[in-house]
Amino acid sequence: MNQNNDSDSTRRRFLQGAAAVTAGTAIASSSTLLSSIAFAQDPPTCPTAPVGGVPFTPGSDKRPIVLRNSISALSGSQLAQLKLAFVRLRALGSSDKRTWLLQADIHSLFCNQCNGVSMQIHDSWGFFPWHRAYLYYYERILGSLVGDIDQFRLPYWDWENSRSMPAAYLSPSNSGNSLWDGRRDSGIAGGGSLPASDGTTARINTLLGITDFATFGGTAGIGGACENDPHNIIHGDVGPHAPPFEDMGNLGYAARDPIFFSHHCNIDKLWSAWNAQAGGGTAYHNPTDPGFLNARWSFYDENQQVVSISAGDVLSHEDNLRYTYQGRKINIPIFYAIYKCEFLCCTPGPDPGPFLKVSQEVRESVLTQVGAGNPAVLVLSGVEIPQSVSGAFDIAAIRGDRRSPMGALTILGDTKRDKTHKPVTLFLDISKAASDLLAPENPASIHLFNRHPEQNRTKPFILRAQGAQIRTGSMKQEPRS
Ligand code: C2O
Repeated sequence: MNQNNDSDSTRRRFLQGAAAVTAGTAIASSSTLLSSIAFAQDPPTCPTAPVGGVPFTPGSDKRPIVLRNSISALSGSQLAQLKLAFVRLRALGSSDKRTWLLQADIHSLFCNQCNGVSMQIHDSWGFFPWHRAYLYYYERILGSLVGDIDQFRLPYWDWENSRSMPAAYLSPSNSGNSLWDGRRDSGIAGGGSLPASDGTTARINTLLGITDFATFGGTAGIGGACENDPHNIIHGDVGPHAPPFEDMGNLGYAARDPIFFSHHCNIDKLWSAWNAQAGGGTAYHNPTDPGFLNARWSFYDENQQVVSISAGDVLSHEDNLRYTYQGRKINIPIFYAIYKCEFLCCTPGPDPGPFLKVSQEVRESVLTQVGAGNPAVLVLSGVEIPQSVSGAFDIAAIRGDRRSPMGALTILGDTKRDKTHKPVTLFLDISKAASDLLAPENPASIHLFNRHPEQNRTKPFILRAQGAQIRTGSMKQEPRS
């Protein structure tokens, strides 16, 4: 267990305590509960990894640049084509390199480090480019199966505006529907909406106000803010809420659900929108580090050939991968003031005690900003995820009996990944919590609340961060297109 490593605690301060035993969740903290959780083996079959292969040449794809559209905007015949593509994908013989199952297992290959694949593409800066490359080849396979590789593009699930799962993926709710998956949360599967706080326009706009890629999209060893929220959060909302969370809530299985691809298109669109704000200077630019650009991964293409593609190859999706997205009209915040914060150690238990320690000067400027209606976020970087913890948690500042929501954390299931999981970035909206968090007397502490304590029993745990910052700014006025 890594929670109580005292020698580390002065350098990497404790962040917070007691998920699942805080107010309102009277779950016993016995560790025997945890050991009784039976995780499935991930992945179910670790496929032989494609290695090497013909390197992608930028400019070699000369198909037209075609819009990836929202599912809700697809015509009847486009929807029928999408369904047909998945019908044919699912019907491929088991030795084929394009099968639905093998493709899903290729996703899990890159999170489980089996069969010689050493790269974990989650919780790192490889997250955005790897998934973009994966979608590209998957899209080509689907397009070729319906004889329309030039025009077929994956649609996205615009969960920001379409709050329930698109109907085509839900009904008919049986295996006659190639977009259906029987392993989803029953509420979502029954046409229910996402939790009101998840994947919102406000959240996305705030994320688009981040100017540095490290915070937005991660570093070599730390996951970026988008990966947890909204990416993991929506995964967890769609999958069942009990371990082992398959399909969507478990990385070993997630790509078996066709909604995975439309969810990831929406994530990819978010990255694209973030980059679209770039001008001179470094803001909104991808990393230029060769370690980022030269990461190279192998896939199977529509001809079952092994191909390889690098992160650098996928950065310009219009030029190189031949798809585009509709521009986004946004009012995003600009964060221009960054305050490094000290945060206090806390001990395990229901009340971890006060959290942030800031100077009087910082307190005053942050509270003045918030009082004027400006955005304020708390960035906790390098938050270490304890082994074997999975599930969805709301994060709130607690002071007295006041609970101010700040965000959420979803840790996707995947037993093998627990051996190697990397720290994440939490990017938390503290507009409502700031006055409690920064109060000079008895300031708020930060707690995690298990969203589904009856279905997912977790013992208390502590999160530690490597750094904390408060960022404040103002709303940028001009909409961008
Ligand atoms: Cu590779 Cu949405 O996960």
